[in-house]
Amino acid sequence: MAQVTLKNVAKVYDKKIRAVEDVNIQITDGEFLVFVGPSGCGKSTTLRMIAGLEEISEGTISIGDHVVNDVHPKDRDIAMVFQNYALYPHMTVYKNMAFGLMLRKLPREKIDKLVRDAAKLLDIAHLLDRKPKALSGGQRQRVALGRAIVREPAVFLFDEPLSNLDAKLRATTRTELKKLHARLKTTTIYVTHDQIEAMTLGDRIVVMSDGRVQQIDTPLNVYKRPANRFVGAFVGATPMNFLEGILESADGRFFFVAGETARIALPAEFSSALADHIGNTLSLGFRPSAMREASPADPQDERITLRTILVEPLGKNADVSCEFPDGTHVLARIDAREDFPVNADVQFTLEMKHVHIFEPGEFGANLVHPPADILAPAAV
Ligand SMILES: Nc1ncnc2c1ncn2[C@@H]1O[C@H](COP(=O)(O)OP(=O)(O)O)[C@@H](O)[C@H]1O
Ligand SMILES: [Mg+2]
Repeated sequence: MAQVTLKNVAKVYDKKIRAVEDVNIQITDGEFLVFVGPSGCGKSTTLRMIAGLEEISEGTISIGDHVVNDVHPKDRDIAMVFQNYALYPHMTVYKNMAFGLMLRKLPREKIDKLVRDAAKLLDIAHLLDRKPKALSGGQRQRVALGRAIVREPAVFLFDEPLSNLDAKLRATTRTELKKLHARLKTTTIYVTHDQIEAMTLGDRIVVMSDGRVQQIDTPLNVYKRPANRFVGAFVGATPMNFLEGILESADGRFFFVAGETARIALPAEFSSALADHIGNTLSLGFRPSAMREASPADPQDERITLRTILVEPLGKNADVSCEFPDGTHVLARIDAREDFPVNADVQFTLEMKHVHIFEPGEFGANLVHPPADILAPAAV
């Protein structure tokens, strides 16, 4: 078991491509940490630097108490599972799992116990005599996992290990990985582009974009308090809606004014965070689930009027695709009902406590629900 620390880590490919920039993270002993972000944002590069498969261009990486920048991968006490798990086709499952240990010249009885224990844990004990070609995709992935487990490493590294599985198997294997971690409690660093996988697996998640860390926090905190507009848009089962507008102040209250489209009264709790931004262009972000059909009791200036285009029933809820008169698209997730009007102007109410206001630009900071560590600096 070990903690893993990245300090000012950067990766420069070919002396010019800065693929990863200034990453600082302390992964605690036993933690399940997930790197998540769109393709090309630097997740695999970061993981490969931890594994020792890529040289660290700048900064230091420590595993336990040791700086490992110059330590060979096989001496880092890690085990890695990739998307393409590449089992040895001519070897049985048993041999696939035992092979690394045999190379390390462990006693035969010790190897046998490790392999059988891991096989039992992964529910593949009945497959030990088979060759990989006689296994399903999910079973092969378990064997790859088994091969990592028998090494009893201080740290597991996973790079999109579920990407080759179909949706159903991906979901069940995900659950099993989480159970496995709960039993083994081995420090785990996991890379995925799938934000649902990140949210469900991670004790904490690291959201990356363009080689930079955008936010590190628990899944729920990242969801509730996205550090910036990018994180708000990336995390969450349905994308956040955004509306561009100007912050106005009148009669001691703040309003978000999006041209002719909407004039939304903002709650008093937002005032101190927004005081320096009056007259500025900002963007209002709200998740589909922060909207509901307006009821007569809702304040008029917390409502928006939208043209409904399409309704997708989901069971308990329904997703309604809507448009503002200027064509801005908005998705609403509402309580389902049979006779919901389509091609009609419908009033929705915004639940203001779930509304975010971001500074302009793709990485504009969240002004009203910033991450907790910004609200309560360590110095306090
Ligand atoms: N061996 C390499 N040489 C040059 N550029 C690379 C190399 N590997 C990755 N990159 C670049 O580094 C960036 C990050 O890649 P990667 O870490 O693979 O992203 P991710 O895993 O998040 O999809 C990308 O722009 C990619 O093109
Ligand atoms: Mg990758």
